[in-house]
Amino acid sequence: MDTRLAEPTSHLTHAQDDPAEALRREILEKVAEYYRLKYANRPFVPGQTRVQYAGRVFDEAEMMTAADAVLDFQLTHGRFGREFERKLGAFLGVREVIPVNSGSSANLVAVSALCARQLRHGLRPGDEVITPAVTFPTTLAPIVQNRLVPVMIDCQIGSYNIDVSQLEAARSDRTRAVFVPHTLGNPVDMDAVVAFCRAHDLFLIEDTCDALGSTFDGRPVGTFGHMGTLSFYPAHHITTGEGGAVYTGSHRLARLARSMRDWGRDCFCGYESPPDGKCGRRFEWHIPGLDERYDHRYLFTEIGYNLKMTDIQAAIGVAQLDKLPLFVEKRKKHFRLVYEGLRPYEEHLILPTWHPKSDPSWFAFPITVRTGAPFTRKQITRFLEDRNIETRYLFSGNILQQPGYRGIERRVVGDLPNSDIVLRGAFFVGVYPGLDPARIDYLLTAFHDFFAHL
Ligand SMILES: Cc1ncc(COP(=O)(O)O)c(C=O)c1O
Repeated sequence: MDTRLAEPTSHLTHAQDDPAEALRREILEKVAEYYRLKYANRPFVPGQTRVQYAGRVFDEAEMMTAADAVLDFQLTHGRFGREFERKLGAFLGVREVIPVNSGSSANLVAVSALCARQLRHGLRPGDEVITPAVTFPTTLAPIVQNRLVPVMIDCQIGSYNIDVSQLEAARSDRTRAVFVPHTLGNPVDMDAVVAFCRAHDLFLIEDTCDALGSTFDGRPVGTFGHMGTLSFYPAHHITTGEGGAVYTGSHRLARLARSMRDWGRDCFCGYESPPDGKCGRRFEWHIPGLDERYDHRYLFTEIGYNLKMTDIQAAIGVAQLDKLPLFVEKRKKHFRLVYEGLRPYEEHLILPTWHPKSDPSWFAFPITVRTGAPFTRKQITRFLEDRNIETRYLFSGNILQQPGYRGIERRVVGDLPNSDIVLRGAFFVGVYPGLDPARIDYLLTAFHDFFAHL
């Protein structure tokens, strides 16, 4: 693993002349030593060690950059934040990355940016947004929170993605946007979604919180539409603890997204705070009805939030990004191992499917217990959990059945039968980079034992 610090810093270069910087170096070396003593060894004791579905994968590099950021004590967006934006943008091939404090915040910022007052043809209350019923709650929540109307369509069993054949049926005169999650890292058929959005002049947001590193037709997901969103919660492809990001190729949308993230203010100086602002005319801004000009720093042109990421989180993210290509490779490899291992049980389990143009960087391995199988989802997940193998249900299932979402204003296409199947019979196990051949072998043996005892 690459254990270098994020960028060569002046304090490290001049460590010999500066006692404070020599001490910093010593502290960081101690942090690395602490990592090696405390965390480097992850022995696997079958049955006792939990086979997690996801988790933090890190080494001394993350702990050192985090400690380095603590010693900077910048706390808010600083050198690590800038480095994180640059590196993540380079990985995705996008011009604009807006770090935030969670994937849910990324979704809120993305939808809110499209609702911005300053966006002349932006979304307005009552406009419709097409989105699937099988989803993560905070993909749907910002639609509701912005007083837009979700139009729910069904998913496909196997891919667990939006059923693109229902897009046309979902459309009305009020339809203005499509918000698609790439479920568990599995890319949606973007040929169909992009063609639909282009034909009807719709905004497109992609929730790629589970799909960092996934491509469709060789292109990173999240770059097909107007904005993509990411989560860096420990279950995801890289982690900053809590954290997330919005990304886009549009400077205009990026500026609105930053404004939504940063209290709704117009000023784009960030923390740099030059006396006359980055705009060079900080005290010359006009508020209608006010004779005197106003300070740009406190000119609020949107109704926003504060959803910013700290520099300590960004520092961890910088080190994680070095590992991302390897993480993606491991996720794919683990997926293949689990897929091959579960093929003998296809009579009772529906295994995942993906589009021929997709190259998924899988978040997890989804499985649906077939209707008529001689066991229930509860029985098989209980069996696995009793053997210390972590399982999860597929997020909300049909979210309209969830207590918090039953009464929301919405339109629905059909009866969502597949979403109900997911609610009743789908679950997932892990393929994350923290697994290894021994853990995957244990997981597959547990499935084998379950079927041997049927
Ligand atoms: C598809 C999807 N969107 C959004 C989120 C929310 O991300 P966060 O937990 O960082 O708020 C998640 C969380 O797992 C997710 O899976």
